[in-house]
Amino acid sequence: MRLCIQAWTFPAIFDSAFISSAAFDRAAKPVLFVLLSLPLGWLAFAILGELNAPGSRLGADPAVEVVRFLGEWSIRLLLLTLSVSSVRRIARFPKVLQLRRMIGLFAFSYVVCHFTAYLGFLAGFDLVLIEEDLVERTYITVGFTGLLLLIPLAVTSTNGWRRRLGTTWRKLHRAIYLIVPLGLVHLLWLTKDQYGEVVLYSLIFVVLMLERVVNRRKAR
Ligand code: HEM
Repeated sequence: MRLCIQAWTFPAIFDSAFISSAAFDRAAKPVLFVLLSLPLGWLAFAILGELNAPGSRLGADPAVEVVRFLGEWSIRLLLLTLSVSSVRRIARFPKVLQLRRMIGLFAFSYVVCHFTAYLGFLAGFDLVLIEEDLVERTYITVGFTGLLLLIPLAVTSTNGWRRRLGTTWRKLHRAIYLIVPLGLVHLLWLTKDQYGEVVLYSLIFVVLMLERVVNRRKAR
């Protein structure tokens, strides 16, 4: 296993001037911001297209498509957030940690947009229907639990909160290890066929968890 991890490292790329420290500090956050905004930009473009020519960009059921699109990006970005510390260790690139907060906040924003799209497009802001869904449709209950658990993580993601909470901050942010599986269960529950996507995301999650276990063992 040790050999395996060694083979997985890319010191030549990251230790060298390939990505200079100053260039990273200058460009990484703005570039990442643009990249993470692209799916939202595409969605806005697709919705505008739909208004001009219904059925042209979002298929037969645009409302469901918008909810699904935002849901998919929610789980992808949650996994990306989780992967940052593994990338830091495997690529021996500590600076990548500077990007984790932004990725996490984008993940949270996509989940909020996903939820808002559900409230508006699928539930029509009908409180009775929403309450019924939350109680009776298990995959909604599970997704909603994930959203609720994400809120304290987003609120306390600043350096100020990190300082104030001390060791509790780390413990609190371990909730991500529950939130991602909740997202996966939510996806599994609503998948009726074609399980490829949920299997792929679950595999990524398992690999990220295994990397942490291996890293802890090495540290001991
Ligand atoms: C951590 C939170 C959440 C994550 C990661 C998440 C992720 C996802 C994913 C990946 C999908 C499937 C997309 C596809 O079909 O390809 C999905 C669908 C869906 N989600 Fe979520 N979700 C979350 C929270 C919520 C919440 C809070 C609600 C509403 C209360 C919700 C309602 C829905 C609905 C209604 C669909 C499916 C629509 C359909 O196919 O008919 N989700 N979600």
